[in-house]
Amino acid sequence: MNEVLEAPEPPVVMSAGGTADLIRSRRTIHDFREEPAPPDLVRKALDLARWAPNHHLTEPWRFYLLGPETAAAIARLNAEIVTARQGPEAGAAKLDRWSRIPGWIVVTCANSEDSLRSREDYAACCCAIHSFSLFLWSEGVGVKWTTGAVTRDPRFYDLVWIDPDAETVVGLVWYGYPAEVPNPARRPLEEVSVSLP
Ligand SMILES: Cc1cc2nc3c(=O)[nH]c(=O)nc-3n(C[C@H](O)[C@H](O)[C@H](O)COP(=O)(O)O)c2cc1C
Repeated sequence: MNEVLEAPEPPVVMSAGGTADLIRSRRTIHDFREEPAPPDLVRKALDLARWAPNHHLTEPWRFYLLGPETAAAIARLNAEIVTARQGPEAGAAKLDRWSRIPGWIVVTCANSEDSLRSREDYAACCCAIHSFSLFLWSEGVGVKWTTGAVTRDPRFYDLVWIDPDAETVVGLVWYGYPAEVPNPARRPLEEVSVSLP
């Protein structure tokens, strides 16, 4: 499989070369430094996220900014889930890891009974998360978008005060200054594109 992958370039944290460099260099950050991102910067990123495209201007996104108490409760819930599946050692390791994540938001999408609208609203929320990520990345702050089992657990909805009849979680999104920037490859464009006459 590796031979069809493009050779990865060295990671670049900032967008020194403008929009193309910003998009190309953004990476999912798995390990964050301890110091939190400035709240004003995060607020600005959310404010920009609202300008993502959304069909019929439904503005389906809702953003929950979690404080340390809620984040800790989610970390404990996740550890409980991991412990039940993989044992106490794995649960404790996960709790330790999650307890060190400096910034937490949850993004939800307003539910709709119309399946096309649901699909389009979910797409719009994904665009919003990406705008949030790209803006933060341009300021040196990294993001990880997660959809692990905990985000589908009814207790998660309770902890974040989300009404499951009204909204669905699109992602638990962590942010902070990167401790390390991974460098995953992408397949060549020719493999994933078709040109028609
Ligand atoms: C909808 C969605 C859900 C994701 N959920 C997870 C997750 O639960 N755990 C994880 O490690 N990464 C998750 N990711 C991040 C992807 O794994 C990541 O984007 C991918 O490895 C490519 O890396 P890059 O973002 O640095 O290009 C998710 C990404 C998306 C778009």
